[in-house]
Amino acid sequence: KTLTHDKLSAQKDGYRYFMEKEIYEQSLVVGETLMGRIKDNSIILDELSSLDLAHIDAIKICACGTSYHAALSACYMFERLAKIRCNVEIASEFRYKEPLLDTKTLFIVISQSGETADTLEALKMAKQSGMRTLAICNVDNSSIVRTADMTILTRAGIEKGVASTKAFATQVITLWLLTLYVGEHKKSMDALTLQSEIAALLRVPLILKVSETTHEKIRRLSKRYLHGHGFFFIGRDIFYPLALEGALKLKEISYLHAEGYPAGEMKHGPIALADSELFTIALMPKNLLYDKMKSNVEELSARDSTLLVISPEPFELADDFIKTKPHTHMMGEFFEMMLITQLLALEISIRLGNDVDMPRNLAKSVTVE
Ligand code: G6P
Repeated sequence: KTLTHDKLSAQKDGYRYFMEKEIYEQSLVVGETLMGRIKDNSIILDELSSLDLAHIDAIKICACGTSYHAALSACYMFERLAKIRCNVEIASEFRYKEPLLDTKTLFIVISQSGETADTLEALKMAKQSGMRTLAICNVDNSSIVRTADMTILTRAGIEKGVASTKAFATQVITLWLLTLYVGEHKKSMDALTLQSEIAALLRVPLILKVSETTHEKIRRLSKRYLHGHGFFFIGRDIFYPLALEGALKLKEISYLHAEGYPAGEMKHGPIALADSELFTIALMPKNLLYDKMKSNVEELSARDSTLLVISPEPFELADDFIKTKPHTHMMGEFFEMMLITQLLALEISIRLGNDVDMPRNLAKSVTVE
């Protein structure tokens, strides 16, 4: 018994859980995902050599779970940066809605495992309709990779924690690369923008290095977030899918009720729940709609919600505050906040005594409908 235990902890390289190890690996695997894909201020994706972008005027993405949140983030990037229409659907919804499909739309599926039944079926439907299909996947030779016309592999390595962390980071990075590739090839992005986007992209591995001080701060702070009647992770724009992902991480491994919500939408219902037992985790980046977020958070504070603010700017009304580094690009803030919400979920789950890597009722790969 001891032997098995030792063997297992050896694989964890001294980390308490695989999820923790995988959070710490993100800097490395994101670096690997970028390797060889940027050259002379240009994006290299040889995997797409057969794709004629002149015939593509829109993108549709299907995925499930965390991969769906990566898809939602991509949607903001595709429209803002590459100026191409993008629409995202949950694979299990897409399958039965009798969708209208257009061969000028590029169909993308995102999947860590490459085996998710709903995503695979959505992909088959798109293929049958004559669309060009692209898989963004972490497992080579998986069913999804074998089915899609083209594949870009994320290089996260084997992910063991059921709650996905490093796979998500590499998916978002790959989708950012893809956005720049589309912008470059469709000439919808000017050279200067491309250059500064590439510079920002290359800074991500450094941003993803976990600071022991931040981790320790989150560990200590987590003891105040074990009870109460629920969590609202709020954000705007691309920080909204990040809020969804933060809430998903927490509910997956802590079994606490958590929702991700667009901050501007709180007034249309959820604010009715606000009181001191309702925890609001506010993602307040400096580079994007800061003042709008601020007034949304002020409204929650006026209703006594307990506020944990994650921002580079100190926020007076916050009950707890995690200061992020100053970043010149919103995606720098995105990845630092991603790391913080992952660590928060991890530490809350550990304090509650849960099995972080094997949460109840969940499977790493869902191969049934
Ligand atoms: C399961 C896993 C999630 C994952 C989702 C989609 O629910 O527990 O972590 O995000 O499936 O999986 P995929 O492999 O397609 O990304």
